[in-house]
Amino acid sequence: ALGNPLRPAILAAARSPRMKSAITRAPVTRSIVTRFVAGQDRPAALAAARTILDSGRSISIDHLGEDTAEPEQARAALAEYRALLSELADQPEATVGGVRRLEVSVKLSALGLALPRDGLRVAREHAHALCTAAQAAGVWVTVDAEDHTTTDETLAVVTELRADFHWLGAVLQAYLRRTEGDCRDLAVAGSRIRLCKGAYNEPESVAYQRRSEVDASYLRCLEILMRGRGYPMVASHDPVVIEQTQDLVGQVGRGPAEFEHQMLYGIRDVEQARLAAEGDQVRVYVPYGAQWYGYFMRRLAERPANLTFFLRSLVTH
Ligand code: FDA
Repeated sequence: ALGNPLRPAILAAARSPRMKSAITRAPVTRSIVTRFVAGQDRPAALAAARTILDSGRSISIDHLGEDTAEPEQARAALAEYRALLSELADQPEATVGGVRRLEVSVKLSALGLALPRDGLRVAREHAHALCTAAQAAGVWVTVDAEDHTTTDETLAVVTELRADFHWLGAVLQAYLRRTEGDCRDLAVAGSRIRLCKGAYNEPESVAYQRRSEVDASYLRCLEILMRGRGYPMVASHDPVVIEQTQDLVGQVGRGPAEFEHQMLYGIRDVEQARLAAEGDQVRVYVPYGAQWYGYFMRRLAERPANLTFFLRSLVTH
């Protein structure tokens, strides 16, 4: 979490090509990565998804990739999502109470947003094509939130695409100072909003730095979304957030089909199962693919215990 003094260094390493090559080549890394990443390829992701669906939870599958600098790579990402969506189309359990149990998550920077030329246009076109394929497959899409330099463009693309795909979800990050306002603007009927704390290294000018401030912002944003007219997706493993969600749901009288919990693959699995057994909707974010480095490093940065475990195994290997 943000209380971790090593967080800025780890998040800087998450964007360093030198660190990337050192860490991805360390023999022990693979076994630790599998704790957070469902696998390197689509069959592995679908197998993990199957287990989760069979346990009564829903899924959001993410093909790992970000900061794509080559147009060819952005096209390949879209092709992978299309292949994934056509396989998901064959899965039996599509909806519960109007909520689709199958979802994919995507980063606009994987679809081309960071390309040196025409990034925004390319990402928007690819996202539109992805949503068209998702619609045909009966699968929902949520667009992940990346660093704050992309927030305006990302929310603009989601808003624009929602004209054609009303079910398209957006992500808001509670560590950003702007997010309470975004929650107010976006808590409208039908709008699916995933609220998370935020996983990038952000400057003080735009983001709360102290853990207590981020947590307080999260709870304010959560209340706005819960009292609003949209569909809140509460993406957090934090026990305080989960308890507060249950309280608010009771206060505002939302039924089980009117909000959901979301957690990451491999994190607090027992708690995920407990919430699902109590009748709440739980969606698990399932990442897969070869480009796991940035995702993996953000998970290490969140929790000193994960980092210690990783460093110790590097040394003792
Ligand atoms: P916090 O970090 O305070 O952790 C609370 C507790 O949860 C910890 O004490 C521990 O028990 C457990 N925990 C948390 N992280 C753990 C870890 N890595 N390993 C083991 N245990 C852990 N961010 C973003 O910037 N853009 C996005 O689009 C998304 N998308 C997204 C989707 C979903 C479904 C989730 C759950 C999260 C995201 N995030 C994200 C990540 C999010 O911003 C945040 O970094 C993490 O969820 C960690 O924050 P928590 O709210 O879980 O609380």
